[in-house]
Amino acid sequence: MGKQRKILVTGAAGQVGSDLTRALRERYGNQNVVATSDQGALDHAGPWQYFDIRERMVLDSIVEDHGVDTIFHLAALLSAVAEKDPLKAWDVNMSGLLNVLEVARLRACAVFFPSSIGAFGPLSPRRYTPQDTIQRPTSMYGITKLAGELLCDYYHDHFGVDTRGVRYPGIISWSHTPGGGTTDYAVEIFRAALTTGRYECFLKPGTALPMMYMPDALRASIELMETPAGRLSHRNGFNVAAMSFTPRELAAEIRKHIPHFTMGYAVDPARQAIADSWPQSLDDSIARQEWGWKHEFDLTMMVKDMLEKLSA
Ligand code: NAD
Ligand code: SER
Repeated sequence: MGKQRKILVTGAAGQVGSDLTRALRERYGNQNVVATSDQGALDHAGPWQYFDIRERMVLDSIVEDHGVDTIFHLAALLSAVAEKDPLKAWDVNMSGLLNVLEVARLRACAVFFPSSIGAFGPLSPRRYTPQDTIQRPTSMYGITKLAGELLCDYYHDHFGVDTRGVRYPGIISWSHTPGGGTTDYAVEIFRAALTTGRYECFLKPGTALPMMYMPDALRASIELMETPAGRLSHRNGFNVAAMSFTPRELAAEIRKHIPHFTMGYAVDPARQAIADSWPQSLDDSIARQEWGWKHEFDLTMMVKDMLEKLSA
């Protein structure tokens, strides 16, 4: 992806979208990145517009008006929200993606689509889950993410659309609150530790999940889109890994900086059931081989940086 690209970001008011919009604007120029969402605060440093991703004609006119050639499609309902309204989750996540792919097909755009660890299920190997393995997700969110990976592959194979994507682990960041996922505890815990010194975790203490700090997630997304196409055998749903930890381990790491921090557990059965169906860690060797993916932040570095940024 060259520096002259015109980019549209959907879901740009969300946890990932707000930081990704800023990172893309720093890299490609404010005026070359259009921020869109159905609600929430959009960065006004460049063009922005509110619309519902299910309105294909509106999407098409924004792409035409701004000469967009690359779409980062982040708009979606996350796992816990999706489980509360599964039909809406199917509608937003699938109709939204289909609209993006159709507009991309007709207007020759490249597409970045983030899948998730939620695209795996209880039959997948749970430790070092391989790139290519059995995927039988049991949450509505996971079903839409797996179907999304396949739809993106289809649009590449049948229509030549340049689709690419990663399976994000749980994303940890300080600038924006999370949007209703199963991994949200790993973000909420930091503000609680710095304010009240206490957090009630909705997952059991030993629930291991793959996680990633936002700077690594942004770099993974941009680097994949900039990789010469000839290097890619896979295209969508690349496993990318950085760290894996349990709530108990995260609390212990935070306690190294805030010794009086305490954590209790008020387990939410719905989110625990989702977490129990997801991988504990990912094998991302294919992303490392094909496009040179490499994480920078481990648990120790991430906790130190989160506490410094939130304190400031
Ligand atoms: P978020 O919930 O914080 O933000 C989602 C954004 O989509 C918001 O701006 C919301 O207003 C917008 N949106 C929702 N419905 C819409 C609609 N009908 N029309 C237009 N916009 C709509 O989510 P996030 O954490 O920023 O996640 C971004 C993407 O990354 C999602 O596709 C998500 O599945 C994926 N992902 C996130 C994580 C994570 O830990 N945050 C992990 C894996 C994958
Ligand atoms: N963090 C996301 C969620 O919990 C994973 O895709 O929904």
